[in-house]
Amino acid sequence: MEKMPYQSALDVQPTLAQTMYAEPVAVSSDWRTGLPVLTGAQVVLRELRSTDAPSLFALLTTEEVSRFISPPPTTVEGFEKFIAWAQRQRAAGSYACFAVTLRGFDTAIGIFQVRDLSSGFETAEWGFAIGSAFWGTGVFQEGAELVLQFTFDTIGVHRLEARAAVLNGRGNGALRKIGAVQEGVLRKSFLRDGQYLDQVLYAMLDVDWRRQRETMAPVSVSIH
Ligand SMILES: CC(C)(COP(=O)(O)OP(=O)(O)OC[C@H]1O[C@@H](n2cnc3c(N)ncnc32)[C@H](O)[C@@H]1OP(=O)(O)O)[C@@H](O)C(=O)NCCC(=O)NCCS
Repeated sequence: MEKMPYQSALDVQPTLAQTMYAEPVAVSSDWRTGLPVLTGAQVVLRELRSTDAPSLFALLTTEEVSRFISPPPTTVEGFEKFIAWAQRQRAAGSYACFAVTLRGFDTAIGIFQVRDLSSGFETAEWGFAIGSAFWGTGVFQEGAELVLQFTFDTIGVHRLEARAAVLNGRGNGALRKIGAVQEGVLRKSFLRDGQYLDQVLYAMLDVDWRRQRETMAPVSVSIH
């Protein structure tokens, strides 16, 4: 999450072709034309919409959520720009960002994002942030399982990395419990509030995830 790519400075005006994807309502089996809706027992993950900006602003800019991640946008308008950027990057095939919602409630309470680290999405990095009212509720675990299935089965990622500040207890705990393997510590690799922090580098391989999934309860993924 710490090194996820969106920064307001990277904003560029969308081309005409990109604006065609600005507010998708229907999606196809090609995730680049619109993310599928991933449905679990309590969680529904779907494409971000510009109307998600107010709730994401309210939930993801608190001190406890943002202290170990790249600074989120500081205004609702900043989140709207981030969402438009995310849709353009998805259409370009280099990034996917899901809104986390609860079944029966369409309000976005968090995000999961996956970005390409190679030219063809063989290697990727993922990150996540969820409003603190929903921590420890199982929302993360279920959302993560849905995103992993999408990442390995739909995108076809071979190696999925994550970075978590060593000081981020919940972030590290969350990654470990989902099966991410610690590969090392990246010393002083993350600048936050004027301080360089150490980060743990985690990775999951498609083969390990497939083996691990055989021992887990299945999650259903419905594609609309
Ligand atoms: C990361 C995040 C999405 C995880 O969601 P969550 O609901 O808090 O995660 P969970 O409670 O399911 O899992 C966290 C695990 O870490 C454990 N944990 C909590 N504090 C911990 C600590 N200080 N040290 C180690 N483990 C800790 C929890 O006990 C839990 O494990 P358990 O379910 O086996 O008990 C959420 O905490 C968040 O949005 N944090 C802010 C943004 C962020 O840091 N993103 C991740 C960057 S890598």
